[in-house]
Amino acid sequence: MKPFTVYLFVLALGTAHIITGQVLLQDSERKVLHCNVTGEWRSELGSHLLLSAVGPEVRGVYRTAVESVRGAAGLEREAKVFGVVSNSPQPTIAFSVVWAKGSCTTWVGQCFSLPGGGQVLNMLWMLRSAAQSSVDNWGSTRLGEDRFIFTRSVDSP
Ligand SMILES: *[C@@H]1O[C@H](CO)[C@@H](O)[C@H](O)[C@H]1NC(C)=O
Repeated sequence: MKPFTVYLFVLALGTAHIITGQVLLQDSERKVLHCNVTGEWRSELGSHLLLSAVGPEVRGVYRTAVESVRGAAGLEREAKVFGVVSNSPQPTIAFSVVWAKGSCTTWVGQCFSLPGGGQVLNMLWMLRSAAQSSVDNWGSTRLGEDRFIFTRSVDSP
């Protein structure tokens, strides 16, 4: 690199540092807690959730530790995640999966930053099993609660 190019590069780095520093300072002054859903999460039951948010869209993979019926979630117990996330510091989020044997689950909740550090997803879920007929419809939906703890950040695609 020519000396002038190097100079510009160093200047750019310095400017970026100052801008980042100012943003951090403003945030800490306002005490805004940020929760970023992109990364790896683990539920209290040991299910794994990998999420990647691009704007309002969420994609990912869910590997469940539990099944309503043995085999319901398939051999790998994995399913693709599709969802949406709001644009706020501690965003609301909703996502769904369809399992190998035709049941599906949807979660809705919010991403929170914990006062002592770390992030949590507080979610409600509904699991719909496929009923044989409308007569069996009444007992085909389960409702529950999941708490996912952030375990690792990953780079967005
Ligand atoms: C969330 O974290 C990912 C890295 O895991 C990063 O690429 C992305 O820009 C972050 N999003 C926000 C809104 O800070």
